Amino acid sequence: MTNTVVVGLQWGDEGKGKIIDVLARDFDIIVRYQGGNNAGHTVLVNKKEFVFHTIPSGILHPKKICVIGNGVVVNPQALLEEIEALRKEDIEVSNDLLKLSESSHLIMPYHRELDRIKDRIGTTKRGIGEAYADKANRVGIRVVDLLDKETLTEKLRVCLKEKNSLFTNIYKQHEGFSLKKIRDEYIRYGELIRSYVIDTTIFINEEIDKGKKVLFEGAQGTLLDIDHGTYPYVTSSNPIAGGACTGAGVSPTKIHRVIGVTKAYTTRVGKGPFPTELSKRLNECIRIKGREYGATTGRPRRCGWLDIVGVRFAAKINAIESLVITKLDVLDDLDKIKICIGYKHNGATIIHFPHSTSSILEEVQPIYEELPGWKMDISHVKDWVDLPKEAKRYLERIKELVEVPICLVSVGPRRDQTIRL
Ligand code: GDP
Ligand code: IMO
Ligand code: MG
Repeated sequence: MTNTVVVGLQWGDEGKGKIIDVLARDFDIIVRYQGGNNAGHTVLVNKKEFVFHTIPSGILHPKKICVIGNGVVVNPQALLEEIEALRKEDIEVSNDLLKLSESSHLIMPYHRELDRIKDRIGTTKRGIGEAYADKANRVGIRVVDLLDKETLTEKLRVCLKEKNSLFTNIYKQHEGFSLKKIRDEYIRYGELIRSYVIDTTIFINEEIDKGKKVLFEGAQGTLLDIDHGTYPYVTSSNPIAGGACTGAGVSPTKIHRVIGVTKAYTTRVGKGPFPTELSKRLNECIRIKGREYGATTGRPRRCGWLDIVGVRFAAKINAIESLVITKLDVLDDLDKIKICIGYKHNGATIIHFPHSTSSILEEVQPIYEELPGWKMDISHVKDWVDLPKEAKRYLERIKELVEVPICLVSVGPRRDQTIRL
């Protein structure tokens, strides 16, 4: 296998964590390239559930190197808690195995506070958008800045001058943030994470040159991409495969393939258009069976039929070589299953995803194709031949509509509940 990006094809939570864990054994290095602890990637191993927010989902494999790339925004407290929780489970998280980019931007307390106060789209309130905004505004504080007290003090002084005037003038009930308090807290984090900090860009490129195989782990999903998603109902980074180049410092010529992950249906957390969203009863039915509650915030996820229009768009812009379909087992009990193959808008048929105009997506009516359900438990199936014919037909139809072959089908959260094609 060669350097590969795993990318979500929907609005996140496609089951990327499980798939990264399944694929990781064939790679040497696993790299997170964007997002922050807004992500929640779940991996179930030996009946123990791990939820990764910042650390790549490959860390459960002994001896694999995990890298948090420059494109990730890091909450150091959350990262340290994640490391601690893994250690308690006897997972090795030494600095040989975990590398943190010195260029990653930090999520600061004022980012979280601003996210909380300003949110209009239903964010995870982790300060993600505010941290990326400061990065773009060139007032961000980076991991490397934690390693030197004077640099951190100076950068914080500049930043807090602006933030505190915003807090005290606009949000009058807020008394502003203390430089000393934040500096002391963050210098302490710096001491604790210092040993993991390296120039990950050089590291990854040198390892690739030595012939090591790299798996790039996307967070969120294509439809949440800040450039190509359903703006403004998006996250503030580029989850698409191209994001791996900027978020890890790797040339596109060194990435050999992209695998796209989609659920057998659709979910979304937070606000924003969702053409195939189900009525209350069926929505709840899928939410309960699929345990569709946010791995980061615990919020109930909105559920809907598989939207091929969105998946096909995501498959195209990521140029995916193969598809992974997850959570097929969640549809086990349904008599009929619908797939959205197009939209109706003002009497016209749309087959291209109107990603740049959320208002159109709010107005469209899905055009459905209906397929029979299989009405049996498939969670124990290990081989394609043992799937019921209706499940095969559903998967074949997805493959036909997306025009990309399927490489894996997931029928449960465990590693062994995976069918390789
Ligand atoms: P991610 O953010 O893309 O990694 O996905 P999440 O971890 O947020 O959500 C996926 C959820 O579905 C997790 O609870 C997984 O354990 C679970 N899951 C993954 N694959 C399957 C599957 O094939 N079937 C079922 N029933 N659950 C799955
Ligand atoms: P994983 O990696 C699903 C959503 C939020 C909100 C929007 C912006 O687990 O798939 P943000 O906090 O990023 O500014 O919120 O993006 N969102 C996710 N939805 N899965 C995620 O990550 C998400 N990360 C952010 O709900 O609608
Ligand atoms: Mg998730």
